Amino acid sequence: MDIIKKIEKLRELKAEARLGGGLNRIEVQHKKGKLTARERLDLLLDEGSFEEVDMLVKHRSRDFGLDKLRFSGDGVVTGYGTIDGRLVFVFSQDFTVFGGSLSEAHAEKICKIMDLALKTGAPVIGINDSGGARIQEWVVSLGGYAEIFLRNTLVSGVIPQISAVMGPCAGGAVYSPAITDFIFMVKNTSYMYVTGPNVVKTVTHEEVTHEELGGAITHSTKSGVAHFACENEVDCLQKIRKLMSYIPSNNREESPKIECKDDPNRRDESLKRIVPDNPNKPYDMKEIIKTVVDDNEFFEVHENYAQNIIVGFARLNGKSVGIVANQPAVLAGVLDINSSQKGARFVRFCDCFNIPLITFEDVPGFLPGTEQEYGGIIKHGAKLLYAYCEATVPKITVITRKAYGGAYDVMSSKHIRGDINYAWPSAEIAVMGPKGAVEIIFKKEIAKSENPEEAINKKLEEFREKFANPYIAAERGYIDDVIEPQDTRPKLIKALEMLSTKVDFNPKKKHGNIPL
Ligand code: HXC
Repeated sequence: MDIIKKIEKLRELKAEARLGGGLNRIEVQHKKGKLTARERLDLLLDEGSFEEVDMLVKHRSRDFGLDKLRFSGDGVVTGYGTIDGRLVFVFSQDFTVFGGSLSEAHAEKICKIMDLALKTGAPVIGINDSGGARIQEWVVSLGGYAEIFLRNTLVSGVIPQISAVMGPCAGGAVYSPAITDFIFMVKNTSYMYVTGPNVVKTVTHEEVTHEELGGAITHSTKSGVAHFACENEVDCLQKIRKLMSYIPSNNREESPKIECKDDPNRRDESLKRIVPDNPNKPYDMKEIIKTVVDDNEFFEVHENYAQNIIVGFARLNGKSVGIVANQPAVLAGVLDINSSQKGARFVRFCDCFNIPLITFEDVPGFLPGTEQEYGGIIKHGAKLLYAYCEATVPKITVITRKAYGGAYDVMSSKHIRGDINYAWPSAEIAVMGPKGAVEIIFKKEIAKSENPEEAINKKLEEFREKFANPYIAAERGYIDDVIEPQDTRPKLIKALEMLSTKVDFNPKKKHGNIPL
């Protein structure tokens, strides 16, 4: 055969591989409102940047007639490409080939690109759309999953890992996305669960749909497993590109800095009017965040889960920062089990990847009650404390109003290595809220009084005047400065600039033992 014919044959092989399970199955995929594995990569990556690896790999199974059904690629498209010019590794499961199920060869392909990603220091983005373990391959398939889980764990904190779930992801297969840093799901077409509705019905007699049990809304609001619930696949892939713009390629690099057109010295008078005079009145902390950051652009993570804490990315003078903020508009911004876990995971991500942390604080304390205590608020609250304590990235805090009790310590206080801690004049830094404090320390006096309510109110006023302010903390240097709200943006940018050469270490150890 001459070279021309050989090239023709190669082209035929590749054209066949590109069709995955064939045109009919592609049509079925489209009818479900889903794109194919390759269409997804086209949208995710910069145009023309995708370089495929292992296109001609086939499974080696001989049982159940599989030896007669050998599709090139074996149900997953793998390779590398760029997002905004930066290298990323990708795998995209192809549901048109054996339902995207994972065989030995399929797993090897994923592991190969994960190994390359680690060596080259580039993120891995995995698109999951799979019926799980290739049933015909039995334990070999389970071994393949375990090889992936191991790599997910070993590269964690070295390169960012992002999972998009765009179809089924069930059984043990969920644990690969679960170990990665961010999970994106698509409303109505993706689901994740350990056991599906049929098994649930048999075991617990509960009737539940796929969507209710493990859909995007469920996981982005109830379980917190998913960080993003996207409207459709295009929205999902665009959001992944956006997330990439805020994060570095590996733990040795910093996030890409972009040119900032928003004046770093911009002062905003509206900030003076956001915190209400009445300390019990809620307000929206997102208004403060958006007013302060570049171009008012805040990329929120976990938007619909544990909304009493806000986490997400923004930029200050073009530099990427992680924002953590209490949200007084939801449950008064209290810390509970879910918000502590959400905050802790985000803080740890930022610390792994050299992203400075900006904390906006208005927190009345931890949520009381049996539900919280029985659920382990002690150990879960400790996660957020631990995460902030161990973080060595630049840490800047702004107390806008309440900083009460243990929650004051937790939210990146000076004592746990906050680098620069600011307070607004509206800040109230105290062991507890004024009412609780007055009722305890003036208990006897109030009991003796003829009009206890009046006595409480009088003491409250006195107490507020004396203690519910930032000045006692400022006298001690626990607060570096009390700043006027309108100056927040320039102050943060200057502090961030000053901290750009910060070096801090934790004691040498194998790893810490975060309370899990
Ligand atoms: C082999 C599979 C498969 C699998 C689907 N297919 N899942 N082949 N192994 N796990 C094949 C189907 O036989 C079918 O082939 C084609 O893919 C498309 O599947 P359909 O069932 O027609 O698609 P749909 O109706 O959309 O249903 C999708 C599905 C369903 C819900 C995912 O296929 C399903 O329930 N699959 C089995 C899921 C499962 O139990 N997996 C193992 C879980 S245990 P043909 O040729 O007929 O069109 C597990 C353990 C992992 O994953 C542990 C890791 C530690």
